[in-house]
Amino acid sequence: MSFAQDSRLEVRPLIVNDAETCDQIVLTLPRHFGLESGRRACAQAVRTSEGWVAVLDGRVVGFLTVQSYFDTTVEITWMAVHAEFRGRGIGRRLIERLRREVQARGYRLLLVSTLAPSYEGDTEGPAEEGYAATRAFYQAVGFLPLQEVPLYWGVGSQPALLLVMPLQ
Ligand SMILES: CC(C)(COP(=O)(O)OP(=O)(O)OC[C@H]1O[C@@H](n2cnc3c(N)ncnc32)[C@H](O)[C@@H]1OP(=O)(O)O)[C@@H](O)C(=O)NCCC(=O)NCCS
Repeated sequence: MSFAQDSRLEVRPLIVNDAETCDQIVLTLPRHFGLESGRRACAQAVRTSEGWVAVLDGRVVGFLTVQSYFDTTVEITWMAVHAEFRGRGIGRRLIERLRREVQARGYRLLLVSTLAPSYEGDTEGPAEEGYAATRAFYQAVGFLPLQEVPLYWGVGSQPALLLVMPLQ
């Protein structure tokens, strides 16, 4: 069942009390959040950054956090939907809310980075389990691939794909 139009699903601003539930959501996605350093950075972001959560019947089932640059750009820094609820329109609802909010504040561009298609470790397993699905998601909700950047996350890191969404 899709939650794309479901009024039981609410998207509201992230508050610090949501942080532990966000940590739990991340633990349902070991394939995507396999690195302890990544989980720690995400845990920090949900405690300190602005963000939004998707709430279904009172339960937080997805979130995203953001960071802004200049007065033009907002980057999605972390995003996850609980494994049991993936593929049912919750991510799309989070992006739609984010887009409305930042557009109203006058920002011009949404930015997100994810693992690039050239990353060899991404070729194993079914596409829907890995970052091919994440790239497909971002493009389905309106992001355009901009550039692959080697070492985007620092020395020894995997190549990133940057995607942008212009805001009208
Ligand atoms: C990526 C993620 C946030 C997307 O949220 P979601 O709720 O699963 O996505 P939605 O159901 O809203 O999908 C929206 C659209 O994306 C596309 N999409 C989603 N999952 C897809 C998949 N596995 N394969 C292909 N396309 C997909 C579909 O076109 C879908 O369109 P539809 O609404 O017409 O069906 C979520 O799946 C997730 O947490 N993934 C693991 C962690 C992750 O990758 N986080 C981002 C790190 S950069």
